[in-house]
Amino acid sequence: MLMKACTPSSVLLVCLGNICRSPTAEEVFRQQAAIAGLSIKVDSAGTSDWHVGSAPDARSQRHAKSHGYKINKLVARQVSANDFRGFDLILAMDSQNLADLQAIKDSITESADSLATLALFSEEDPTYCGSDVPDPYKGDNDDFEEMIERIESSAQAWIESWKAC
Ligand code: 4NP
Repeated sequence: MLMKACTPSSVLLVCLGNICRSPTAEEVFRQQAAIAGLSIKVDSAGTSDWHVGSAPDARSQRHAKSHGYKINKLVARQVSANDFRGFDLILAMDSQNLADLQAIKDSITESADSLATLALFSEEDPTYCGSDVPDPYKGDNDDFEEMIERIESSAQAWIESWKAC
């Protein structure tokens, strides 16, 4: 039987810009973990350096707030090889993010066993399994609402999988 991975001590959520999807996922994950009584360090980052130092996109802040998630104090940063040493689990919002993260992981010389496990954010989610959290940056209000719905669903699926462990 396949053994389910138990609760990681740290999770890093990663998207492209770290101003829309992953900062929202960071706060959703943090709140859901706290409600479930799981002690997990949660952070987020982007594969690009385009928005380093910026607060989350104003639309993300607004939609997150309307669902009870305060993300205005978060600051964008770029993912680094060191994150593979500092986190147990790194979750990619879409398949391009996943490929970019895999390339970073492959470039690290030490044993993959000692590095973060890499997965797609939707991987445990029976509703959205294997699909991307679409990039809402050029989208409209509905796209930001869909982003939050998918993030809540897929974060909950990870938390449930660990509670059952
Ligand atoms: P995110 O969205 O990856 O969810 O933060 C994006 C933010 C900015 C850009 C693209 C996606 N951009 O092209 O600047």
